[in-house]
Amino acid sequence: MFIVVEGLDGCGKTTQTKAIRDWLIQEGKKTLLTGEPSNNQLGLFLREVLIGTQKTDPKTLALLFTADRYWHLEKEVKPALEEGKIVVMERYVNSTIAYQTAQEVDGKWIRELNRFAIKPDLTLFMDMKPEIATQRADSGEIFENMEFQEKVYQEYIKIGDMIRIDANKTREQVFHEIKAVIEPRLGK
Ligand code: TYD
Repeated sequence: MFIVVEGLDGCGKTTQTKAIRDWLIQEGKKTLLTGEPSNNQLGLFLREVLIGTQKTDPKTLALLFTADRYWHLEKEVKPALEEGKIVVMERYVNSTIAYQTAQEVDGKWIRELNRFAIKPDLTLFMDMKPEIATQRADSGEIFENMEFQEKVYQEYIKIGDMIRIDANKTREQVFHEIKAVIEPRLGK
């Protein structure tokens, strides 16, 4: 089973994906918690772009995120799924669609590039108002400003193939909502 968690910077993805992983392990499920950008060379380069120590243009960025995704899928995600693990992943194709379309890259082109990307069984969208998310995001990355996050939010809303989680609530309430979505799909 392949679960993806999407959302704005500061929406609580990291906290919630860890909580999902801990709960699944308690349930006796073999689990891989992972995310994009990955930890390979491309992912490390992307982290530098995100903190502003390397520069590139939006189209190149879309290609790099996509290349990083291909590597990550082949080397980490597919092997884990083949071992019967539940893969819980922070960000995936919809991040490139939302963020790089917000940077004026053509969404159709991004979708075309990402045709190789296997479809998740479940994608959760942590829906938090951009003004709240931006206040909470504090890693100093280039995309963490209100105006850009508002654009990204509008692009996420247009995508539509995700289950919406109300991320404006408390951490416990959000996890409760996530659990209620995942639990019936675990095939117990
Ligand atoms: P983020 O989830 O903030 O990672 P971390 O918590 O480790 O800093 O993701 C990094 C940033 O990269 C975030 O601003 C979204 C952006 N991003 C894209 O612009 N396109 C993509 O395809 C992906 C995967 C992420």
